[in-house]
Amino acid sequence: MLGRQRMRFGIIGCGRIAPKHAESIVALPNAELVAVCDIVPEHAQAFADKYGAVPYTDYHEMLKRDDIDVVTIATPSGLHAEIGIAAAQAGKHVMVEKPMAMTLKTADALIEACRKAGVKLAVIHQNRFNKSIRLVREALEAGRFGKLTHGQATVRWNRDDNYYAQAPWRGTKLQDGGVLMNQSIHNIDLLQWMFGPVESVFGYTATNLRKIEMEDVGAAVIKFKNGAIGLIEAASTIFPKNIEETLNVFGEKGSAIVGGIAVNRIEVWEFPESEEEKKNIFASQESDPPNVYGFGHRELIADMIEAIEEDRSPAVPGEEGRKALEIILAIYKCQETKQPVVFPLAEE
Ligand SMILES: NC(=O)c1ccc[n+]([C@@H]2O[C@H](COP(=O)([O-])OP(=O)(O)OC[C@H]3O[C@@H](n4cnc5c(N)ncnc54)[C@H](O)[C@@H]3O)[C@@H](O)[C@H]2O)c1
Repeated sequence: MLGRQRMRFGIIGCGRIAPKHAESIVALPNAELVAVCDIVPEHAQAFADKYGAVPYTDYHEMLKRDDIDVVTIATPSGLHAEIGIAAAQAGKHVMVEKPMAMTLKTADALIEACRKAGVKLAVIHQNRFNKSIRLVREALEAGRFGKLTHGQATVRWNRDDNYYAQAPWRGTKLQDGGVLMNQSIHNIDLLQWMFGPVESVFGYTATNLRKIEMEDVGAAVIKFKNGAIGLIEAASTIFPKNIEETLNVFGEKGSAIVGGIAVNRIEVWEFPESEEEKKNIFASQESDPPNVYGFGHRELIADMIEAIEEDRSPAVPGEEGRKALEIILAIYKCQETKQPVVFPLAEE
């Protein structure tokens, strides 16, 4: 670790999600938060005061520090790629919030910049670390589902007009996207992680209630290369509050449903002779997290530190983060063309 005791982090973007990063970093024994940056000086100062870091209002200035090992990017999504590329060029490892970029072209530019600079790139899909999701993934890797038949990613949440009014970037095409790109990307990532790769996609989006440029409802069907079918239902319009984020995985010899507020609770666990296992799983369920962000940020950050130390790929590298992005961009294309998209998606 460059001869130092602890991995040194800098955070760019000190808004709603940034405390998850800051608290995770300061809680890890082998990590330290040394610098924070936000174009709003009060945001940067408040973070600096709370977590004992140096504040910056220009990320280029922050990136000049040679004692930062890893940069975490938690700005509006449309800035992720550009800031990530600058961080990579400054020799920093990059952790980027989802979506990693707003287009495949910029996602690829970020992946390439990190490769060229020899730094690691990790995308924040923290739900992959949920205990419930790990159980499903382990069952899948052990072949316990048999032939996969179909699955579903469901996000039924509420983001009201006040939420979208909080910041001008929310719900915009260039900086955020709608409920598929912002809220549902985690669950779409999980669906494709279990069933992928994708053969083709067809979907619709609509803006039914919120006063935003992009969608507040989306639905899609995916045909996976293994023959399984995937369904996506995404809504930020649910009255009056969040109901669920649920992932269904069905196969010839197994059925699993992970629900709760943010794919945190096993609701169905059916495999041959699984009674004892099922009892144990239900007896040790995680309770709902305090918010939909869940508990996974800390583990993703710990994984990144280990990946750097061991010079291995992080758990969710750029190439993995790109997959859910491609699905969502394909659904947007379907909405425009009213035609299915056969993968790989060709961007104009
Ligand atoms: N992993 C998750 O579960 C999760 C949850 C929420 C948000 N996010 C993602 O995190 C990102 C931020 O979301 P948020 O809700 O915290 O947004 P936010 O608007 O609350 O915070 C963004 C912050 O970035 C700052 N900023 C803008 N431009 C900047 C620049 N050029 N340099 C430095 N700072 C800049 C803003 O001033 C603001 O303080 C988005 O990409 C979002 O999709 C991820």
